[in-house]
Amino acid sequence: MHLTREEERVLDGEEGEARRKAMEIVVALGEIYGAKRLIPIASAQVSGASFKTIGDAGIKFLEDFSSGAKVRVRTTVNPLGLDLKRWESMGVDEQFFSKQARIVGAYESMGLEPIYTCTPYLSGNRPRRGQHLAWAESSATVFANSVLGAMTNREGGPSALAAAIIGKTAEYGLHLKENRAPKVKITLEGIPDGLVPLAGYVVGKIAGNRIPLIENLDLSLDHHKSFGAAMAATSAVSMYVYRNRGGHEKADASQVEECVSVPASELRDCAEGLKGEDRWDLVAIGCPHCSPAELRGMAKKLKDRKPAGGSEVWFCTSRHAYAACPKEVGILHKFGKVICDTCMVVAPIEEMYKTTASDSGKAMVYLPTLGKQRASFRPTSALLEAISR
Ligand code: F3S
Repeated sequence: MHLTREEERVLDGEEGEARRKAMEIVVALGEIYGAKRLIPIASAQVSGASFKTIGDAGIKFLEDFSSGAKVRVRTTVNPLGLDLKRWESMGVDEQFFSKQARIVGAYESMGLEPIYTCTPYLSGNRPRRGQHLAWAESSATVFANSVLGAMTNREGGPSALAAAIIGKTAEYGLHLKENRAPKVKITLEGIPDGLVPLAGYVVGKIAGNRIPLIENLDLSLDHHKSFGAAMAATSAVSMYVYRNRGGHEKADASQVEECVSVPASELRDCAEGLKGEDRWDLVAIGCPHCSPAELRGMAKKLKDRKPAGGSEVWFCTSRHAYAACPKEVGILHKFGKVICDTCMVVAPIEEMYKTTASDSGKAMVYLPTLGKQRASFRPTSALLEAISR
């Protein structure tokens, strides 16, 4: 791989040990994937921010890195293991909090923005079409590539951080136009109400590691958010290409090698298969984090109803969305907790609950594994119905 004189100097440690280590990570990845050069990035999104997912070894890595390293581009962070302001009311213990605080301290000392969300594109870190990024969160990566037209690989936490410190990433994978062509065409014959996340779930399983071209995908931005998150959770791809019903969006289908149709009945069967139990310790909405529009929509549906009781309820969102609609957050608080900075997957819920219901296709993948939950899928409207009367 060709490095400029300036990049060589960093790799030789002339700008300090932290930048040398960061450059070593970026260059090593470039060499593994056959990159020819490094390219500047517009922003980074770092994952691996919950103590639950990175543990003591992760804290040591970050604290070692943070002595001397500063990010060179705008960098936001994935959800933590707790709400920084309301962690006690979530049931998180003091020991977890103190470990989490060290992670936050390390990130903030490196100049990362204290924005802990998987929807950075709704919190000010919104890339423009064609910009190169180093984003790690899988749901954000797929949204950036597919909906916003930016270009990023699905980075790991350390590689996104290293790229942020250098301000560059290696040019391979989805940074190259020739690698962004769809290889499988998937026609959704209809998406039943409330099952958009499961459409993503099913599309991901069909796509595997091939970028899909999806026909008939007429979704709002919020629906793209939940669709892409689920697709990225059940597949290895970080991008889809889509055409709406008019078919007037351009898509290069020249490399498509297989065509698959998905009838609406397949999505209903998928919902049935993920139905799980009828009673839950926790109802968790907001994977990916709820947007202001989603918070407003739920508050509107609940405003004349009363809490049903029976389950703990979490509405997971970003601090930006929380601050954007105080009145609606007030309504939702009557039915449960509106929590920020964290989510039902990366918070230590396995120590509090055994059964969780969610309206997220992505959560159906991670609640049973990372969260050790018996998980149940329900459309948002069914969950709102269940938590109110
Ligand atoms: Fe976001 Fe947590 Fe889901 S990070 S996409 S709410 S698993």
